[in-house]
Amino acid sequence: MKRVLTIIGSAAVVLVVLSLVWSFPTANPVAAREGSGSADAGKQVFLDQKCDLCHDVSTAGITAKTKSAAMKGPDLVNIATDEAAIAAYLKQESEMNGKKHKKAIKGSDDEIASVVAFIKAQTK
Ligand code: HEC
Repeated sequence: MKRVLTIIGSAAVVLVVLSLVWSFPTANPVAAREGSGSADAGKQVFLDQKCDLCHDVSTAGITAKTKSAAMKGPDLVNIATDEAAIAAYLKQESEMNGKKHKKAIKGSDDEIASVVAFIKAQTK
C-alpha cells in the first residue's frame, strides 16, 4: 500500500512539474496573440474578416476570391500609408483618394493593429 502511494505521489509531482513547464512559455497564448498587434495574428484576422474576398496579398500567398474586377481591391503590398491612417481608413473614419473604404473593419483595436502590422510587413 505504501508503495502504491509513493508511486501516486511521484506521478503527481511529475504532472505538476510538467504542467508548469508546459504552461510557462504559453502562459497566456490568447493575450500574446491578440495583444501584440503582430503581423502573424494579423494574417489570421485578415482571413477571418474575409479581406481576401477582394484583396490579393501576393507576398503572403493570398489570392482574392472575387471574380469581379469592379469589386476587387489592390494587392496589399508596398503600402506606403502610415499605420494610423490605414487604421482610420479601414474603420471608415477617413478617406483615401477621396473615397471611403468599401467595407468597415470589425474587431478590437488590437485586431485592427494586427491587420495593419500584417499589411505593413508586406513588401517586395
Ligand atoms: C468588397 C471588397 C473589399 C473588401 C471585403 C475589403 N476591401 Fe480593402 N479595398 C477595396 C477596394 C476596392 C480598395 C481600393 C479603394 C477603393 O476603391 O475603395 C481597397 C483598399 C484598401 C486599402 C488601401 C490600399 C492602398 O493602396 O492604399 C487597404 C489597406 C485595404 N483595402 C485593406 C483591407 C482590409 C484589411 C480588409 C478586411 C478588413 C479589406 N480591405 C476588405 C475592396 C475591399
